[in-house]
Amino acid sequence: MIGIIGAMEEEVAALKEVMEVQETVEQASMVFCRGILCGKEAVVVRSGIGKVNAGICAQILVDRFHADVLINTGIAGSLDARIDIGDMVISTDALHHDMDATQFGYPVGQVPRMEVLSFAADKELVKKAVEANEKANPDIHTFTGRVASGDQFIASKEVKENIVKNFQPLCVEMEGAGIAQAAYLNKVSYVIIRAISDKADNSATMDYPAFERQAIAHSVRLVKELLPVI
Ligand code: ADE
Repeated sequence: MIGIIGAMEEEVAALKEVMEVQETVEQASMVFCRGILCGKEAVVVRSGIGKVNAGICAQILVDRFHADVLINTGIAGSLDARIDIGDMVISTDALHHDMDATQFGYPVGQVPRMEVLSFAADKELVKKAVEANEKANPDIHTFTGRVASGDQFIASKEVKENIVKNFQPLCVEMEGAGIAQAAYLNKVSYVIIRAISDKADNSATMDYPAFERQAIAHSVRLVKELLPVI
């Protein structure tokens, strides 16, 4: 079973439109839509914003719907000058840029008493997502690399530079690492797919609304291309 966690209502709605819906279940104030999507058993859900919502959502997908693959789609701020608004980032790994237990000797970003700094995405899923995006959205560029997540919308040059210095990620968003950590703990595979909506600096809030519709169209096309090959 494939769990698809979308950040935006419109994105989830677009996937539900093409889904053969079999059941709609509400838990933890989230609506889980189960059915057949592009020939695959899937559950589509909007987690809400932030890492806690994302982690709760992922755990329900695993426990209640027996998801063994988690796909997180949405938008993100670019942290790399090569990556433009509209481009797509596929995660190699994800971490919490706002976790800090350096006082106890842990590297910044690492959850204390966990063995890893970042949570690795499934290599095969990453490869398939890259291929799917190149096919579905040939007009945009695809990048693979680290995703940094935190419970903050990044719209300041200084904060952005600090995240880049600490972690060298390609993009920043607010859910991926919560899902990645849940996937790690439950030993299921995951990938994060993010369309770039802004540059995570002082221009971030300006770019964001204008780009949303285009980002949704790209990620829906990508998911439709990816699902049949999983
Ligand atoms: N999602 C989209 N843009 C973002 C940003 N700049 N910071 C955090 N999450 C985002």
